[in-house]
Amino acid sequence: MTRIVFLNGEFVPYEQAKIPIMDRGFLFGDGIYEVTAVLGGRLLDNIPHLARLERSLKEIAIANPYSDAEWTRLQTELVRRNALADGLVYIEVTRGVFERDFVCPDDLTPTVVMFTQPKDLRDPPAARDGVAVITVPELRWKRRDIKSVSLLAQVLAKMAARHAGVAEAWMIEDDHVTEGASSTSFIVTKDRRIVTRPLSTAVLPGITRAAVLKLVERHALRLDERPFTVPEALRAAEAFLTSASSLVTPVVKIDGEPVGDGTPGPLTRELRQLYLKMAEAG
Ligand code: PDD
Repeated sequence: MTRIVFLNGEFVPYEQAKIPIMDRGFLFGDGIYEVTAVLGGRLLDNIPHLARLERSLKEIAIANPYSDAEWTRLQTELVRRNALADGLVYIEVTRGVFERDFVCPDDLTPTVVMFTQPKDLRDPPAARDGVAVITVPELRWKRRDIKSVSLLAQVLAKMAARHAGVAEAWMIEDDHVTEGASSTSFIVTKDRRIVTRPLSTAVLPGITRAAVLKLVERHALRLDERPFTVPEALRAAEAFLTSASSLVTPVVKIDGEPVGDGTPGPLTRELRQLYLKMAEAG
């Protein structure tokens, strides 16, 4: 089957989707993105993803080219055209195309790209066995709340993780974990308190994080929104990460040291199941 992508208002075969080399996304990382999970052909938590897209665009002064209803229609059509069951829809909006110069007119036409990626989100090995992470210094800029495509620091962190044979890198600033290179970090203390960093410009406001916090409230679990250190994580009962591309995934090792008994924790497994159930219910 031909892979169909979306480029500037049109659904086209992947091979035909070309972007000028003067695109500011390519030259400056001047753009933002979103990733929405697709389960059983349905977009998961898409309204909050589109709200974050709107916010990211506003923060870097790019006009949102579509309404939420239009985005949803286009995403749904792309999912349909690619017969995607489980996977991801990726959206990128850049400031547009202009002769290379740091400054450009305020009213460039943004470049809009969307594509799908099949992925086993329901029952991948990482969800069953848990993943190991390494820690790396936090090298990103100071507006990590914007879902910017300037991802060099995260690429370097993920490559370091891959070279260490692990799945994710937790970034450390002032001795505390900010978040994963592409995920939100959580621990569960021995007295079953769920701990994650509060929202600020230091981290991306994860949509899966928000969904998990809703579950925490609904099931009367205890939550502490505060930064935590790696020694604290290593003393914790459980650790996990969340993202659209991994949902809720146990973290069983940090820098080679086991978290808890080194296997996926019961509360983490329960939260993953609750999240999947909530997703199925729509
Ligand atoms: N990344 N923190 C960072 C730095 C991220 O890049 C992501 C997501 C998250 C989790 O956010 P959400 O739950 O909304 O997916 C946290 C996406 C999946 C990516 O870059 O592919």
